[in-house]
Amino acid sequence: MKKIMVIGAGQMGAGIAQVFAQSGFDVFLNDVNESALDKGMKNIERLLTRAVDKGRMKDVEKTETLGCLTPSTTLQDAETCDLVVEAVVENMDVKAKVFKQLDEIAPKHAILASNTSSLPITEIASATSRPEQVIGMHFMNPVPVMKLVEIIRGLQTSNETYQAIEDMTHQLNKTPVEVNDFPGFVSNRILMPMINEAIYTLYEGVATVEDIDTVMKLGMNHPMGPLQLADFIGLDTCLYIMEVLHEGFGDSKYRPCPLLRKYVKAGWLGKKSGRGFYQYE
Ligand code: CAA
Ligand code: NAD
Repeated sequence: MKKIMVIGAGQMGAGIAQVFAQSGFDVFLNDVNESALDKGMKNIERLLTRAVDKGRMKDVEKTETLGCLTPSTTLQDAETCDLVVEAVVENMDVKAKVFKQLDEIAPKHAILASNTSSLPITEIASATSRPEQVIGMHFMNPVPVMKLVEIIRGLQTSNETYQAIEDMTHQLNKTPVEVNDFPGFVSNRILMPMINEAIYTLYEGVATVEDIDTVMKLGMNHPMGPLQLADFIGLDTCLYIMEVLHEGFGDSKYRPCPLLRKYVKAGWLGKKSGRGFYQYE
């Protein structure tokens, strides 16, 4: 695989495009929103500059990495790609539409991967005529730092597709873990109920935002408290994931906290919108 397209230039897509480019792949970074694309490209440049300043990267490597990246606003660019990694909003209708279009544009041999946090890969694959070449490639945030890629097999994902993505993960210097298609996979089935419980703890007045986070940081040695982590992930994404768990398992233990719904309705989406459980800027 030589040419990659990453769709969605938000916090995940930009990070995914950066790690592919750092490993020498030619990457299209695609977004429907030009200002989001511009922000994503600038963010990559800022992180590479920081790596050079910190002595973790040579200036020439930064130039080479940026040279591997091409901004794109049309899915038509996928017609030359061997692998597409989709990282748009966590919504099945939007993802299914993107995969249907990709299936028509991308070459027959191309693998279509999704960075979904929780949505069924089997259902995303059913929007295409090549379900055996559809797979979950779930990177963790922040992508350039986190070592894990959770690889999710849909019902019809072929062994060849799985092997190609596992090999690619090693080439990106990350560690693959194979999981089956189940709501929330492994990562968010475990992480998101903890975050949701932290929100209930706040909602029920048990402690303040800062104190809940301090308990988990100093008491459990988590690098971030759950409410800070929720802001970092994006409260909209957290809510979508809880809804997938709730619907997928049909168990009330996964019901999203009303306070989470309220914040998302208010447009308090966390760090990316400037306000969530904390205020930014
Ligand atoms: N993008 C790229 N690099 C980043 C970054 C970002 N957003 N934030 C921090 N870094 C880098 C910094 O550049 C820094 O390296 P240098 O100092 O060499 O430049 C390094 O990470 C450490 O950063 P800091 O010293 O500023 O801060 P820290 O030690 O607190 O680490 C952190 C930051 C790595 C984000 C750490 O707080 C952490 O691990 N937090 C938890 C992250 C986590 O749980 N991620 C998973 C989220 S869930 C998910 O992704 C799945 C899903 O589907 C929702
Ligand atoms: P984000 O809101 O930061 O970015 C989403 C981007 O997708 C936006 O720039 C938007 O303009 C773009 N977009 C929307 N529809 C599009 C379309 N049809 N074509 C092209 N671009 C489109 O979201 P994010 O946090 O980067 O999350 C993206 C995906 O990654 C979601 O599926 C999410 O669940 C998953 N994910 C998120 C995290 C996290 O911590 N935020 C971690 C792992 C996986």
